[in-house]
Amino acid sequence: MPAEHPYARRVLQAGPDLERMVASWRPGGATPPHDHAESLGLVRILAGHAIHRTWVVRGGELRETSRTEHGAGEILVVRPGVLHGLADAGGLVTLHHYTGPIDEMWVLDPDRPYTARLRGGAGAWLPADPRDVLWSIEAWVGRNEVRDPRTRG
Ligand SMILES: [Fe+2]
Repeated sequence: MPAEHPYARRVLQAGPDLERMVASWRPGGATPPHDHAESLGLVRILAGHAIHRTWVVRGGELRETSRTEHGAGEILVVRPGVLHGLADAGGLVTLHHYTGPIDEMWVLDPDRPYTARLRGGAGAWLPADPRDVLWSIEAWVGRNEVRDPRTRG
């Protein structure tokens, strides 16, 4: 996997109603805050340990709202629109189910005010190539806080 990616992904199924993939995590790999659009996500920990975090954007600030540790056999539920991130805490392998298609998703830079809009098929990280970003703004934004600049009127 490229150096900047927190995990390698292997898609098992990519249908209109269900996507399934296995993520094998780099030691210490962590995703930045991101959402899964309108999709409901279920993440089963197959091996190792994970740190799961959630955030909200309020008043332009990115605030962590939870941080929990999980081990093999546990299932995490990621509700539509929630900003979350997973990190490897040792030997992490995860199985992800997403209901419904993810057309586009948000990924936030945790280190500076920046939000990128990516294609749903992208991995949950900020792409190294700016051509992989659909559009972006120099601020942290939450769900429904900005209008797509590609639309007019
Ligand atoms: Fe995710």
